[in-house]
Amino acid sequence: MAIKNQQVVVIGGSSGMGLAVAKLCAAEGATVTIASRDRGKLARAAAEIGSNCRHEVLDMTEEKAVEKFFSGFTGLDHLLLVGAGRPAWGPLREVTTEALMSAFQTKLLGYFLCAKHAAPIMSAKGSMLFTVGGAARAAIPGTSGLAAVNGGIVAMARTLAKELAPVRVNVISPGLVDTPAYSWMNAEERKAFYHKMGAALPVGRIGSVDDIAALMLAIVSNGFMTGSVVDVDGGASLG
Ligand SMILES: NC(=O)c1ccc[n+]([C@@H]2O[C@H](COP(=O)([O-])OP(=O)(O)OC[C@H]3O[C@@H](n4cnc5c(N)ncnc54)[C@H](OP(=O)(O)O)[C@@H]3O)[C@@H](O)[C@H]2O)c1
Repeated sequence: MAIKNQQVVVIGGSSGMGLAVAKLCAAEGATVTIASRDRGKLARAAAEIGSNCRHEVLDMTEEKAVEKFFSGFTGLDHLLLVGAGRPAWGPLREVTTEALMSAFQTKLLGYFLCAKHAAPIMSAKGSMLFTVGGAARAAIPGTSGLAAVNGGIVAMARTLAKELAPVRVNVISPGLVDTPAYSWMNAEERKAFYHKMGAALPVGRIGSVDDIAALMLAIVSNGFMTGSVVDVDGGASLG
């Protein structure tokens, strides 16, 4: 199923994996709308993507805004949910209620609201793609907060694959990927962190946004795929 001339929305399309997949879809001839909160970042991303791209400010946690955003489309082929807030990292005893609730509120509630308000305008041959992360797939000590949020998204997506059929609903689960999410480290720290984490993986490196974007496009384009949870993590989930 080609993506040419299809309507694609990428929530969280101004950065990292969202920006990479928006770029790839636009290059394949789709009409892409990217949405996230920061207007300046969005405008720079849209300029980088080129002429097949619209951008719109949206906070996916604001239900009225989400409802209004999707009411602006008459038919939507693919909804890619790639946005994320601050993850609730850390050992169980150190994760605060505030950090956990903020992660639930941003990612789980945000994805839920987008799915809810996009569902009525999805094309019957269309699809939704939810992005989670390795903590939802492997039992990694120190990631119970991430596991709770992302595991909830996996469960929600599998249920929606039946409830919203024939619209297809899938999940992608990346491992560690080099994105601006790690820009809180300085360049040297980041390089050392990526090197150490990559060396521990069977593939010997961490992921790139292009690794993830290519698989996202393959999933949304595959008309026989629904309810799937696809790991793309360099072998991290092997344990
Ligand atoms: N990077 C990794 O190693 C990794 C590993 C596994 C899973 N993941 C998951 O992969 C996805 C993409 O991660 P990334 O590293 O590419 O992230 P990123 O570069 O930090 O980009 C996150 C995007 O989400 C947007 N966003 C944040 N809060 C939002 C909100 N409330 N409403 C709408 N948009 C919002 C951001 O823009 P604004 O801030 O302007 O809103 C930005 O466009 C996330 O779901 C993340 O949890 C990442």
